[in-house]
Amino acid sequence: MKRIESVREMQDLAGRLRREGRRIAFVPTMGYLHEGHLSLIDEARKAGDVVVVSVFVNPTQFGPGEDFDVYPRDISGDETKAAGRGADILFHPSAREMYPGEPLTRVHVEKITEVLCGARRRGHFSGVATVVTKLFNIVRPHAAVFGQKDAQQAAVIMTMVRDLNMDVEIRIVPTVREKDGLAMSSRNVRLSPEQRKHAVMLSKVLFGLRDTIRPDTAVEPLLKEAEATLSGLPGAELEYLEMRSFPGLEPVERFDRDAVIALAVRFGEVRLIDNILLKNDLDS
Ligand code: PAJ
Repeated sequence: MKRIESVREMQDLAGRLRREGRRIAFVPTMGYLHEGHLSLIDEARKAGDVVVVSVFVNPTQFGPGEDFDVYPRDISGDETKAAGRGADILFHPSAREMYPGEPLTRVHVEKITEVLCGARRRGHFSGVATVVTKLFNIVRPHAAVFGQKDAQQAAVIMTMVRDLNMDVEIRIVPTVREKDGLAMSSRNVRLSPEQRKHAVMLSKVLFGLRDTIRPDTAVEPLLKEAEATLSGLPGAELEYLEMRSFPGLEPVERFDRDAVIALAVRFGEVRLIDNILLKNDLDS
């Protein structure tokens, strides 16, 4: 696996690969790779014949007081894991390489960024949309792979690609979970053993809702009950639990179209998100 730190070098190589007729599949990450990220690499290998993984903890998507400084980092571990899973190129630029001067241009997706995490993390999704646009212009992928784990992010990227006619095929991969159901996240290592024990309830609550909700179910009372369970977890603070259409993220009262139930819970300094997709397939 080749490691590249320069934007110019990555762009030149991407141009060369394209001229040779190779298909570039891209997995953008912030590193501290786990099995969830590695499943994206598996999908990328199906989507193209050269797999590029980026590791860049993007400062512009963290708000003041968020965890940018303490976000876990382990580039040599990431290199071993990405190579072991068959990535061909690891793109690992510095912040100065990505933002050499004060950036005056931002990509902002409206409406769907104003709900759920976007309502609580102002500017977060503009930071994400902007850095992903920059990465697309540097890596020049034919396909890019994202995780369902960050459902709102996936919706934002799909919308941006559609609205701006970006010539990139977007693939979304299901959430990879620990044995007990906790969604894998680079942030899980920051949980205390006590918090880790309670965090299992996030996925339990979501699975419970998925297994109960039918097209004719009144959803509101079930969500209220689930909210009470999550708010009652010792040391946990529930930010939100909502059901919305997917990927439009409109509020829904009944499960009458494809929907997502999404939540964010804070354990002290550590903010966890999870979600479950409800496919409205009346024939099944
Ligand atoms: P990061 O949190 O490192 O996640 C990188 C990719 O891995 C995202 O597409 C995310 O949805 C996916 N992912 C994370 N946990 C997963 C899991 N348990 N199962 C499946 N996929 C999972 O998301 C970002 O980085 C950044 O916002 C980024 C897109 C790189 C822009 O900076």
